[in-house]
Amino acid sequence: MTRSSRLSGFYRLGISERRQRLGHSGSFAAIDPGGLPLDAADGMIENVIGTYALPFAVAVNFVIDDVDTLVPMAIEEPSVVAASSNAARMARPGGFSTTCSAPVMIGQIQITNIADADAAARALREAAPALLDEARALVPRLADRGGGPVAFEPRVLAKSGIDGGVVVAHLHVDCRDAMGANLVNTLCEALADRVAAIAKGKPGLRILSNLTDGRTVTVRCFAADANLAGDDIDGAEVRRAIAAASRFAELDPYRACTHNKGIMNGLDAVLLATGQDWRAVEAGAHAFAARSGTYKPLAVWHETETRGGGLVGELSMPLAVGTVGGALHVHPAARLALELADVTTAEQLAAVAGAAGLATNLAALRALATEGIQRGHMALHARGLARAAGATGDLVDRVAAELSACGDVKADRAREVLARLKESL
Ligand code: MEV
Repeated sequence: MTRSSRLSGFYRLGISERRQRLGHSGSFAAIDPGGLPLDAADGMIENVIGTYALPFAVAVNFVIDDVDTLVPMAIEEPSVVAASSNAARMARPGGFSTTCSAPVMIGQIQITNIADADAAARALREAAPALLDEARALVPRLADRGGGPVAFEPRVLAKSGIDGGVVVAHLHVDCRDAMGANLVNTLCEALADRVAAIAKGKPGLRILSNLTDGRTVTVRCFAADANLAGDDIDGAEVRRAIAAASRFAELDPYRACTHNKGIMNGLDAVLLATGQDWRAVEAGAHAFAARSGTYKPLAVWHETETRGGGLVGELSMPLAVGTVGGALHVHPAARLALELADVTTAEQLAAVAGAAGLATNLAALRALATEGIQRGHMALHARGLARAAGATGDLVDRVAAELSACGDVKADRAREVLARLKESL
């Protein structure tokens, strides 16, 4: 389907108008209320007593790999959807370009109590082709789809100690469009006894690693000075300030952590909306950020004088996502989210989530490096308070504008302002 993600004024519409504008009214009805029927929830986890809803939105203006894309987000934090939509507009017309590695996950098989760890690693290396054949035979359907176990690599962790010699064997599995946790864990459990016998040790843990550095996404974008400029601020000045903010994150782990939080704001919102294991992605992202021994930013921004001047941003991180299996079997809102983004493969989903992460990073840095984030946050907070006080239609903006102007962004004040405006109607 060809469609534009440039939905100007989308935020001003009511929910049903927004749905109509997206052209998916039928499937939206299926997810009301809360996106998840109770019986589906009951089948997902234990001891269910209800469902717990989050706002479900789409960020607009995104062009990802030359395609206008609606970016589904589920998140409780105000400003993330608006900020990423703004940043996506700054990155137009080129938008975000992405590359993904093959979707290779790592399973770990730990072997302990080995008398000679070096000899065990050698024996496992020799047995690798046979072990891989054995593993492939366990997942013939995955192999038919072009995936399956691709490598087996033992590594000595300790030659002696309380657990004796310890070796870990990594089983690398191309999971295609599955996130792959169940697949990898099943394979590791199936191989562990044989691996331990070859190593002459005792089988230990058999579980995937969330440091999925064999399954990464890289996202790049260019934001022209003209798009970075504000009412009172020149684009080149904003560009320099954002580049300096990026260098700050490169120099200081305390800043890098918050910088990465800004990336995860958009990225996690996409993962949540699409039913992904966002805890796994978080764990992998932060381990990857610290892989040099110092915690680093996952995305950096550099100035360029080309194309009239602007910023080039690049995000690189592990991103294990899936479009088959997991919560997607049962969660109608997650399926709708994939449909809205027009995503069918794990690679496309990683591209959308990565682009959202780079966009929220740009938006945060732009705000922080110029006026600070509080003005924008407070403006959105004021709109929230206006709605909570009962304002609808134009009154939302009018109440919010008055709250922001007087600097008293509080619930009581919102009720007062609304009552006065209603009287004067
Ligand atoms: C707040 O949710 C995220 C930011 O702190 C990110 C950043 O500092 O870059 C604004």
